[in-house]
Amino acid sequence: MCGIVGYIGKQNTKEILINGLKELEYRGYDSAGIAVLQDNKLDTFKATGKIKNLEEKLSNSTLNTQQLMPNIGIGHTRWATHGKPTELNAHPHLGEYSCVVHNGIIENYKDLKEELENVGYKFVSQTDTEIIVHLFEFYFDKNNNAKKAFIQTIKRLEGAYSILLITKKEPNKIFFIKHGSPLAIAKGNNDGEVLFASSDAPLIGLANDVVYLDDDICGIADENGIDFFNAIDSKPLTPTFETLPNSKQSAQKNGHRFFMEKEIYEQSDVVVESMLGRVNDENILFDEIDKGITDNINEIKICACGTSYHAGLTASYLFERLSKIRCSIEIASEFRYKEPLLTKDTLFVAISQSGETADTLEALKMAKNAGLKTLVVCNVDNSSMTRIADFTILTRAGIEKGVASTKAFSTQTVVLWMMALYFAKQKNVISNDVLKKEILTLKKVPDSLKVENKIHEKCVRLSKRYLHGHGFFFIGRDVFFPLALEGALKLKEISYLHAEGYPAGEMKHGPIALADPELFTIALMPQHLHYEKIKSNVEELSARDSTICAISPLDFELADDFIKTKKTDHYMLEFFEMLIALQLLSMEISIRLGNDVDMPRNLAKSVTVE
Ligand code: F6R
Repeated sequence: MCGIVGYIGKQNTKEILINGLKELEYRGYDSAGIAVLQDNKLDTFKATGKIKNLEEKLSNSTLNTQQLMPNIGIGHTRWATHGKPTELNAHPHLGEYSCVVHNGIIENYKDLKEELENVGYKFVSQTDTEIIVHLFEFYFDKNNNAKKAFIQTIKRLEGAYSILLITKKEPNKIFFIKHGSPLAIAKGNNDGEVLFASSDAPLIGLANDVVYLDDDICGIADENGIDFFNAIDSKPLTPTFETLPNSKQSAQKNGHRFFMEKEIYEQSDVVVESMLGRVNDENILFDEIDKGITDNINEIKICACGTSYHAGLTASYLFERLSKIRCSIEIASEFRYKEPLLTKDTLFVAISQSGETADTLEALKMAKNAGLKTLVVCNVDNSSMTRIADFTILTRAGIEKGVASTKAFSTQTVVLWMMALYFAKQKNVISNDVLKKEILTLKKVPDSLKVENKIHEKCVRLSKRYLHGHGFFFIGRDVFFPLALEGALKLKEISYLHAEGYPAGEMKHGPIALADPELFTIALMPQHLHYEKIKSNVEELSARDSTICAISPLDFELADDFIKTKKTDHYMLEFFEMLIALQLLSMEISIRLGNDVDMPRNLAKSVTVE
């Protein structure tokens, strides 16, 4: 996730771009940059780290953007996906006379880069974005028509992108396209002003009317107006402008009440980013790791804390089931002091949203010092863990603001499932048919993560019933056991109610003694994995008068309450359907209790102490 902004107008362009980027900083902040085109001079400024570093750099520059003539400018705040967060890799990317910012991923950039290199184009960055500006100039040099060159360029791009491009050849214009990644355009409050941004927060106060572009709408803007057209057939379009929300907080939350709610709702989109460039019809690709990563590896050891541990525990089932590699998982704080036996035929996998959690970081260092191959599944590039591990796979969830992790978990789980399939292929233990089927299923995950109104409404209604009692048991089997742990963790974190996750088959070995009507059991009952087994576990609890809330696509007559998830054809899709229900239920209970959903008591987003 990155953020882009653009401006055409007579106000201080530098200030507008920087303020806009600050509003988008939640989308990524490992480097930032702006480009301003005035008097046929194209100036770019870039800095690594937060926007304030760029601001400092600009304060020492002589750039004067307070002009009577309209200026144009574009800006970007980056969340690295291709190439390290260096100044060279920061946007905007320059060609000979043009400049581009981009949010998304160009999946076929390697082929395009090779093609352009063969005809003499030189690349200075490791990004996928740089090909856009060279491709544009390649076509412009051929036909001397910027609109045509822009359309020809975008027709060659595969992946997800929103792009702003400026060029000295048409110095008053911004060329734009939206395909997959978000882009909003607003008419500014002053005459001739046009503003662009990845979300509407930067536009608030500067404009009243906005268009949230649909996919494949592109166009050209200048001080006289905006021409919209269809990127596929070039036909002109007239999108409808709507009124901007008037609060920045609510714009940053996309109209949701809490960041947690926004993050639950955006999971369906962010997992698409986690998969971009990594899944085709027949194969899983991870350019960022060695093809031979599983050579001489007989065991995978996963280490993590909290929610990341639950994603790891889910993966431990998938690694053994799909990749046929022995897999163990440890809570990082336990692992560090148990004097673990580490052998070099083990691949050590650390999982961390932040990449900074002290216990996981130390565990990773221990594994590395013991000579193990190390890999981190992480959401933050250039974090301490990504700098230490031999390999990094980024989850690409974008910044998670709610302290209770939601989209970090779903993206970790999707990436780990893809890794299990990738390892299976490397080890030759999966048939092409099965792999294809799994890939087809993976592609349905975004749909399973879409929040359905009726599920959300049901959780709102149920939240009233579960505010008393002496506790919750979340139960499940197989991968639904880690999901039960995650459901229980979400509830306790933000509602402060006592909740435990338990393997359903273990209840009769002790905890069932607690069963009475004041014990609430949240039962995860998937159709496609051990349904009959979990059903009898739940019947045992029901017979002892526990109040049962079943989450299942199948009707279950013994349930006191029921959240009916969509029917799917694979247990992992049921997993994501149920995840949404669990996250919403705990959020609604927390709201009803009047708690601070985004910043629950006693917790911090990143636990950098032991
Ligand atoms: C729960 C939560 C925590 C984190 C844990 C590990 O909602 O956010 O349990 O999962 O502190 O953090 P990372 O993944 O950053 O290592």
